[in-house]
Amino acid sequence: MTNKTDKKEDKGAGDNEDSESLEEQPLDIGEHYLVRRRSDDWHPAEIIQTRYNDQENHYEYYVHYEGYNRRLDEWVPRDRIMNSRFDMSEQQWKNSERNPVDLLDQTDRKITRNQKRKHDEINHIQKTYAEMDPTTAALEKEHEAITKVKYIDRIQIGVYEIDTWYFSPYPEEYGKQSKLWICEYCLKYMRLEKTYKFHLNDCSWRQPPGKEIYRKGTLSIWETDATQHKLYCQNLCLLAKLFLDHKTLYFDVEPFLFYILCEVNEDGAHLVGYFSKEKESPDGNNVACILTLPPFQRQGYGKLLIAFSYELSKLERAVGSPEKPLSDLGKLSYRSYWSWVLLDILRDFRGSVSIKDLSEMTSITQTDIISTLQSMNMVKYWKGQHVICVTPKLVEEHIRSAQFKRPRLTVDVNALLWQPPNRKINYAKSGKK
Ligand code: ACO
Ligand code: ZN
Repeated sequence: MTNKTDKKEDKGAGDNEDSESLEEQPLDIGEHYLVRRRSDDWHPAEIIQTRYNDQENHYEYYVHYEGYNRRLDEWVPRDRIMNSRFDMSEQQWKNSERNPVDLLDQTDRKITRNQKRKHDEINHIQKTYAEMDPTTAALEKEHEAITKVKYIDRIQIGVYEIDTWYFSPYPEEYGKQSKLWICEYCLKYMRLEKTYKFHLNDCSWRQPPGKEIYRKGTLSIWETDATQHKLYCQNLCLLAKLFLDHKTLYFDVEPFLFYILCEVNEDGAHLVGYFSKEKESPDGNNVACILTLPPFQRQGYGKLLIAFSYELSKLERAVGSPEKPLSDLGKLSYRSYWSWVLLDILRDFRGSVSIKDLSEMTSITQTDIISTLQSMNMVKYWKGQHVICVTPKLVEEHIRSAQFKRPRLTVDVNALLWQPPNRKINYAKSGKK
């Protein structure tokens, strides 16, 4: 594939005029059109980039659907784009149709901030620049400018061919491929299928490097120190960036440990997901980045990794929180995990329990506990502090609700072989001695 400019330069001076006039003219970058989404509905979208498909002899367009997460940006052929431009101004669009909840707000129907948050999270609706504070908006614009176009559409890893979600800074010639081939064991990336096939015969890896610290049934978790296995961890970060929008760690990996979740069979330990964790976190983060590879998502692996990160914090006798900002899916998963943990305790608890008690039991920070309880209307602000305000009936109602999901996979602490390394732990925050 070539980009628009390359294509023009390719043309010799003697090009036939007829073929010139027959040739499709590319649409302009920055213009808005209605574009047919994969779900078959038409939605306003901005043309972000064009490229010429040499094999099929037509232009393709990289589009961003207004109001939706950039994960849904994609390359589309011309026949998925309406002929005439969409001339409703962006602002008008944002005000009227971007967010159905905004519309509800303008009518008499009351909608709480919690309901709006839930709606936006579940529908993957992105905040507009106007909704952000000026610094965040400026940083966001810069971030979007650098990572606007995702060239790598797909990867092959093990038996899976996976559509990618975001830009990842693979080195030059690799970063411009539409498909990358990745060894599922050592994570080496390749441009050509034949190199990949050769590598599979050659590669002796069958598991992540480092130390296996958890094994239960077919599930295993490895602790990998990036100082000892730098290239593997860099490759893992590049792979993860294809599915994470806001991630800046790719090459400077040494201050991190990686916890790698695998499904094991007779062939080897197959990568499912991972989380990274700073060896020393001044902000008290117990997770930096977390990922479940798309073929394994929505099967409980994400919440298993989250639970595992809190089990490590419990052994460290510290509280922890994931690094911010959380992605839309990160928020949903953490909210689901925190709600379950707290409701499970509150259901069986007799007597009074404070937010500090809950934090000590779970290693979840008081801030995260308060926001979770607030989302369930279980906390009141009284005499300058937050107090839990629940009845057994309210707890039962939440447990019976569709949003309460018992995790499909749980951590068996007896299968965890791990001692906290000698590092500075934030005891002050945990309130423990
Ligand atoms: N739509 C709606 N709800 C969802 C979705 C979705 N696509 N994905 C997850 N959830 C919610 C659900 O409540 C789900 O529980 P349920 O299936 O019981 O209803 C819960 O989150 C978690 O589900 P799991 O199956 O345990 O999690 P999963 O294995 O899918 O992993 C994760 C979650 C890691 C966030 C995954 O979606 C992912 O890798 N996303 C891309 C990377 C990312 O955004 N990571 C988080 C960034 S923030 C940070 O790193 C600190
Ligand atoms: Zn390999």
